[in-house]
Amino acid sequence: MLVGSGLSRELGRHARKLLTGKACAIISDSNVAPLFAERVKKSLESAGFRLILITIAAGEKSKTLKQAGAICDQMIAAGLDRQSFVVGLGGGMIGDISGFVAAIFHRGIPHLQAPTTLLAMVDSSIGGKTGVDTRAGKNLIGAFHQPSLVIDDLDVLKTLPSREFNQGFAEIIKHAVIADVKMFRTLQSRKPGDAPALQRLIKRNVEIKSRIVETDERDRTGERAVLNFGHTVGHAIERAGNYSKFLHGEAVSLGIVAACTISVTKAGLRLEQRDTIVSLLERFGLPTRLPSKFPRKKILEAVKFDKKFDGGRIRVVLIPRIGAAYVTENVTLADIREAINQL
Ligand SMILES: NC(=O)c1ccc[n+]([C@@H]2O[C@H](COP(=O)([O-])OP(=O)(O)OC[C@H]3O[C@@H](n4cnc5c(N)ncnc54)[C@H](O)[C@@H]3O)[C@@H](O)[C@H]2O)c1
Ligand SMILES: [Zn+2]
Repeated sequence: MLVGSGLSRELGRHARKLLTGKACAIISDSNVAPLFAERVKKSLESAGFRLILITIAAGEKSKTLKQAGAICDQMIAAGLDRQSFVVGLGGGMIGDISGFVAAIFHRGIPHLQAPTTLLAMVDSSIGGKTGVDTRAGKNLIGAFHQPSLVIDDLDVLKTLPSREFNQGFAEIIKHAVIADVKMFRTLQSRKPGDAPALQRLIKRNVEIKSRIVETDERDRTGERAVLNFGHTVGHAIERAGNYSKFLHGEAVSLGIVAACTISVTKAGLRLEQRDTIVSLLERFGLPTRLPSKFPRKKILEAVKFDKKFDGGRIRVVLIPRIGAAYVTENVTLADIREAINQL
């Protein structure tokens, strides 16, 4: 994992050190490719790689099995083989589908990630989860496939719309709340536009997520589940809003508030700490209250829907204080309903 300025121009050089293959596919989306594909292409070509650029339509709608199949077909037609590799250039959508393609193409070829959103840098590019959505739900089909290299070039964040930038902070604040009280304090006094501080912040988040993932790489034993803090209600809000009302990070922000409310009654979180967390989310322009007309009933239905995919259980992450978290099944639908009603 490399974090710094100007790194996408050095991608080829780093790939050369790591990989023996001669050819690769850059997979990107229709917003990102016009901005950054040229510099990544040049860098790979000057390091001696042959490549094709595959650009798919931007947006979550492209993250499908059909699209993954079409990408594989294009790679085969371009003569890519087992020795080739995939470069994912884009946000989490591209990270997930390009990683999935890398996992299944010739039963697995190396995956390089060049994340271009803050969310992708601090969250989706770490941990090796790849996949696509189906009509029934998000990320139901996928594979674990660790990237060979992740290159976080801070320069690419300059073109990111502010709403997209801010949603990355929902996951950053989540990491602080579950695992790092010191980072929480740093965030409270953050000055926007401080590039070295942003670099340190991204590095720290990569460390936190990597450390948690390492203990439970396949998401089987429960350690990794603490990363779902705020996500039980967050996912449900995304679904209830037809994935269009809120960005993922915005829904997670609301989910964090709900999880904090439950933590006050069930985990002994001090009310004052809950309020501090809410203020920090607001500082980053994230929503902490639902619009009054939002269909709250639909959120609870969506929580029940998610439960189907988790062996019929509701597992929620609670925090006894800022910096500590645990997974519990000791939360009822009634608790969740109450927390949603308070949003
Ligand atoms: N694998 C994991 O562990 C994991 C974790 C969290 C989220 N995810 C997945 O990540 C996806 C969400 O990621 P995301 O929020 O990055 O969304 P995204 O990839 O859809 O990007 C958001 C928008 O920003 C645009 N964009 C990206 N980089 C840009 C740049 N530098 N400048 C201007 N525009 C840019 C994109 O074209 C898109 O329109 C979801 O599919 C989610 O399921 C995966
Ligand atoms: Zn998330």
